[in-house]
Amino acid sequence: MQQITTITALQTYRKTCQGSVGFVPTMGALHQGHLSLVQAAQQDNDHVLVSIFVNPTQFNQASDLAKYPNTLAQDLQQLEAAGVDAVFLPDFALLYPDDYAYQVTEKALSTQFCGAHRPGHFDGVLTVVMKLLNLVSATHAYFGEKDYQQLRLIRGMVDAFFITTEIVACPIIREADGLAMSSRNLRLSAIERKIAPQLYATLVADTSLSAKREQLSAIGFAVDYLAVLDDRLLAAASLGEIRLIDNVPYNDRGAKA
Ligand code: PAF
Repeated sequence: MQQITTITALQTYRKTCQGSVGFVPTMGALHQGHLSLVQAAQQDNDHVLVSIFVNPTQFNQASDLAKYPNTLAQDLQQLEAAGVDAVFLPDFALLYPDDYAYQVTEKALSTQFCGAHRPGHFDGVLTVVMKLLNLVSATHAYFGEKDYQQLRLIRGMVDAFFITTEIVACPIIREADGLAMSSRNLRLSAIERKIAPQLYATLVADTSLSAKREQLSAIGFAVDYLAVLDDRLLAAASLGEIRLIDNVPYNDRGAKA
C-alpha cells in the first residue's frame, strides 16, 4: 500500500491509475463501518484510495478535537490487510494553504439539526471534502448513511459545483446490540456503552416522536434533536461528554429497524 503525503505524489499516483478510482475519505480511528466503505469501493472500482485526515475545521469544540482517537498505526494495518492500494495522509498546511480563508458554506440545511448545535461544523466538512474531491478526482467517493445530514450536504455541494465524482451512500454498520459504529464509541465509559444502544432501540420503537424524546431523557441522554429529513428519522443525543448520532428509515407510519 502506497502512503502519499504530498500533492505531487498524489498526482503521480493518480496518473498511474488505469480505469476507475474509488475514494474513501476518513478521519482515521477506523472501524467496520469504514471498512464497509472500502469494500464497496473495491467492488465498484479498479483502484481504491483512502484518506486519513482529522480535519480541525469541522470541530466546533477544541476539546473534542484534542480527544479525537488517534490510531494511525492500527488504521494503516487494517487498510493494508483490506487490500487498499493507496492512503493519502495530508497535514493541515498541505490541505489549507489559505489557512481556511476560503470556505464552502451551504445556507439552508447546514443550519438545521447537527448544524444548529455545532456552529461551523458543516462549513469545515464541506470545505475539506471539496478540497479532497478536487485533489483525488475519483470516479466514485463513498460516505456512510450514519452521517445522513453530511451525506445530503455533500451530494448537494457536488451538484451545485458540477463536481464529476459520483457520491455513493453506504448503509449504517451496527454493533450486535444495535449501536451504530462510530469512532466516538471508543470514548464511552463502560456504563455509557451499556446505555448507548438504547438510542437506536428508542428510534425504532413503535412510539411517537415526543415519547421517544421523553424515553431518551429518562434513560440519561441529553437530546439535541429528533427530526425527520426525507424518509429518515435523525437523532443526536449525548451521554456525558459523548455526542452520538443515528438515523433510521421513517415514514408516516413510524420507524423501521
Ligand atoms: O465523515 C467523516 O469522517 C468526515 O466528516 C469526513 C467526510 C472524512 C470529512 O472530514
